[in-house]
Amino acid sequence: MSVTLTTPHLTLREPTMDDAGNIAKYLNDFAVSGNLARVPFPYGRADAEAWLKTRRPGLTPAQTSFAIDIPAQGCVGVVGFHQGVNGTVLGYWLARPFWGQGLMTEAAGTAVDWFFERTDANRILSGLFHFNAASLAVQEKLGFAVIGRSRLVCLARGAELEHIDTELTRSVWKARKT
Ligand SMILES: CC(C)(COP(=O)(O)OP(=O)(O)OC[C@H]1O[C@@H](n2cnc3c(N)ncnc32)[C@H](O)[C@@H]1OP(=O)(O)O)[C@@H](O)C(=O)NCCC(=O)NCCS
Repeated sequence: MSVTLTTPHLTLREPTMDDAGNIAKYLNDFAVSGNLARVPFPYGRADAEAWLKTRRPGLTPAQTSFAIDIPAQGCVGVVGFHQGVNGTVLGYWLARPFWGQGLMTEAAGTAVDWFFERTDANRILSGLFHFNAASLAVQEKLGFAVIGRSRLVCLARGAELEHIDTELTRSVWKARKT
């Protein structure tokens, strides 16, 4: 599905092949890929193009990814959803030059609102590797709560790591909106 969402500082839009250069540049940074489960390092343009080819039309909300677009910069990150074994999972990354400005809180919060408004899902799952304090802070600001710990492979590190599992329930999300 093609959806565009605007926030005070960002546009969330469908990723396109034109984003391959930015995605390859910004994900070829271990400080980014080393926090993600499914992104290899090093990361090249062919990796970006292969991922973009999966962003075909007709995907459901639980399969939707948004390019995070900043004026004059283009795509500087991605926020989106995928279907995990236990439900829909929120994932995101932002290029390092743009960290620490509240941008992911804004982007992920907007994507979460869109998902709950577009679906009847009762919860969104997410999580982070145990050392990712910034990501935990983002999720806590959105109302996610820690529900457990698991082990998850980090492709860039080539290792299975401790993962903190989180969820945002619809009821918590709704209560925070009123
Ligand atoms: C995690 C990430 C998305 C954060 O994006 P961001 O735009 O910098 O996040 P925000 O600015 O919206 O919020 C970050 C919060 O983390 C806090 N934070 C940052 N570093 C921290 C640290 N080392 N310890 C504790 N809190 C930290 C910030 O203070 C801020 O919270 P605050 O607003 O209450 O002060 C970004 O760093 C990133 O893409 N990292 C690499 C990929 C990644 O980790 N993706 C998530 C995988 S689960």
